[in-house]
Amino acid sequence: MHDLSGRRALFVGGSSGMGLAAARLFHKLGAEVILAGRSASRLDAARQSLGDAGSAATLAFDITDDDAVNEALSHLPAGGIDHLVITAASVTHGPFASQPVTELRAMFDTKFWGAYGLARAALPSLRDGGSIILLSGVLSRRPGINCAALGAACAAIEALTRGLALELGPRLRVNCIAPGMVRTELHDRIPLARREAMFQTTGSSLPVGRIGRPEEIAQAVLLAATSGYMTGHVLDMDGGHMVRQYATR
Ligand SMILES: NC(=O)c1ccc[n+]([C@@H]2O[C@H](COP(=O)([O-])OP(=O)(O)OC[C@H]3O[C@@H](n4cnc5c(N)ncnc54)[C@H](OP(=O)(O)O)[C@@H]3O)[C@@H](O)[C@H]2O)c1
Repeated sequence: MHDLSGRRALFVGGSSGMGLAAARLFHKLGAEVILAGRSASRLDAARQSLGDAGSAATLAFDITDDDAVNEALSHLPAGGIDHLVITAASVTHGPFASQPVTELRAMFDTKFWGAYGLARAALPSLRDGGSIILLSGVLSRRPGINCAALGAACAAIEALTRGLALELGPRLRVNCIAPGMVRTELHDRIPLARREAMFQTTGSSLPVGRIGRPEEIAQAVLLAATSGYMTGHVLDMDGGHMVRQYATR
């Protein structure tokens, strides 16, 4: 087991899903954890769910608002952070021919430009030897119908990962986790019966026979944070989505 005592990590998107699962794992291993997202009440609930081992703080801001990002970062504890984990995103999908471009631009504003701006703004706060961990998605390389723009946003994050790893090394390492479908609050807006059917259909098409759990992605975030020889890497955590059969079994 890793001992993360003395390390401090900021999880932007840490109030739910994979960000919260990763924060929970880091917290359990002794890291000082800071959770960020837009909703202060969700952050407070997430902080309380971590229990009382170690310490946890929260910062409420919108990743697309540069002023709010800078203001929030100014409240980081003295000495900065070791790891910046960015899972925040509002994603959308729809038919290429009819989905409003304004919706797609808004998605890029969170998923890509949000991560880009936040990583840049946080540079002075990242301690030497630290790391940045971004989240893309298998759609970057394995397309889905109605997901062309989301796939492009994921691919942009992966390209950013490689570019930043080159430019920010050796002071910092930069890696990316590319999840397949994972059961998180991201899917809550889909009506329950349809959502469960989607999870079941997708899961049964995968070599592992099920969709992912946030805790499994958290393990990958931990690997990226603690592996000193890993940078510029995109780690697929997808239950075998990349090698799945094109017809269901
Ligand atoms: N779940 C999947 O199946 C799946 C698959 C592939 C890739 N991914 C990617 O993995 C990442 C994490 O997904 P998830 O499933 O863990 O999502 P999630 O459960 O919906 O969590 C998203 C987090 O981001 C925060 N957030 C959203 N918009 C924000 C903004 N503008 N500024 C600041 N915080 C914001 C949310 O809190 P507030 O709403 O309070 O701001 C929440 O804490 C995303 O990039 C997603 O695209 C997910």
